[in-house]
Amino acid sequence: MVGGAAHAGAAGDPLITQVQDWASGHGDGVDATPYGLPVKYESDVIRRNVDWLTADTISSINFTPIHALDGTITPQGCAFERHHSGAIDLSKQDYRLMINGLVDQPLVFTYEDLERFPRENHVYFCECAANTGMEWAGAQLNGAQFTHGMIHNMEYTGVPLRTLLQEAGIQAAGKWVYVEGADASSNGRSIPLEKVLDDCLVAFKANGEALRREHGYPVRLVVPGWEGNLWIKWLRRIEVMDGPVEAKEETSKYTDLLGDGTARKWTWEMDAKSVITSPSPQSPIRHGTGPLVITGLAWSGRGAITQVDVSVDGGANWVAARLAGHQHDKALTRFYLDTDWDGREMLLQARARDATGYVQPTKNALREVRGMNSVYHNNGIQTWLVTPNGEAENVEVS
Ligand code: MTE
Ligand code: CO
Repeated sequence: MVGGAAHAGAAGDPLITQVQDWASGHGDGVDATPYGLPVKYESDVIRRNVDWLTADTISSINFTPIHALDGTITPQGCAFERHHSGAIDLSKQDYRLMINGLVDQPLVFTYEDLERFPRENHVYFCECAANTGMEWAGAQLNGAQFTHGMIHNMEYTGVPLRTLLQEAGIQAAGKWVYVEGADASSNGRSIPLEKVLDDCLVAFKANGEALRREHGYPVRLVVPGWEGNLWIKWLRRIEVMDGPVEAKEETSKYTDLLGDGTARKWTWEMDAKSVITSPSPQSPIRHGTGPLVITGLAWSGRGAITQVDVSVDGGANWVAARLAGHQHDKALTRFYLDTDWDGREMLLQARARDATGYVQPTKNALREVRGMNSVYHNNGIQTWLVTPNGEAENVEVS
């Protein structure tokens, strides 16, 4: 039994011994909630901004409350958003998808057209390349939501982009596609054809229901394992080309300036990464010593997570955590370490390993290779300092 909980009833707890209001009359009828929202007691499980990052909310970002979620699927209603020119209203009726460029037959699809192609379902994470980017110079933001919350994980329903391109007929000279959205920013990106033909999806449902407006309704591109910026929302046009466009979002942005002044470019894949979501600064230990569930998320853009190790002493010793639930390639994996806490200070860390054998590096190992100018692709090991009162804080160990 956990920490004396079994004795509460015996002590005459009125919640056990007395008939409560909710059992003395009827609850709400089935017509009260045509579409359900989270219960009022969970009203703090919401997207949040970082003020100094969000002076302008149109070209901006908010963060998934990963510290308060469990399992692996992110509800659309609290999944982080990143817009370059705001979320737009685009109806299915007004939706058009054009395929042009180096194709035998340029095509325009309506939403209904897309629904008539064979479709698939896949669970994938979408991580903004800038996730954890504010932590390059040292521990800064106090909460897993802010350090690692530019990520979500959904089950997508859609048509493989391969199928639509085959319908148009890719010409021999076609080696890349340029994809853009219907919003003013268009967020244009170049993607090599091999990736497009491999696993990209033209998706119209997420977690079983229509995409929410802020995630690209009615149609978005899903680019499994690759940086979120490529996941074009309100997908409007796909041009088959013989080379990349070198557009703004792939030159001045989404490249990493190295220590020697040169830039790392075409850094599409998201390297293996993990974070402990609880305990964490926004999810402190409130129950004192004894049984403690340490939990978090791990993911890799290169395939499945094969192992997650947890350290309570800043990386000196590691124990393998329990990987829970279904394991999908390029999707979030939930891990648990069911442990006993003696009330001592902990330096909590998680370290992910993926199917390629790659092991998540320390932040300092990353800095040695990448210098200090980077923002994107920070997958270094995160440390939470948990103090004897159960509070947690973002720190770094050397
Ligand atoms: N697509 C369009 N059309 N416009 C955008 O601003 N932002 C990109 C990408 N696709 C963007 C876009 C970025 S940087 C990211 S990280 C993801 O969408 C975020 O997707 P989300 O808002 O559904 O979380
Ligand atoms: Co992004």
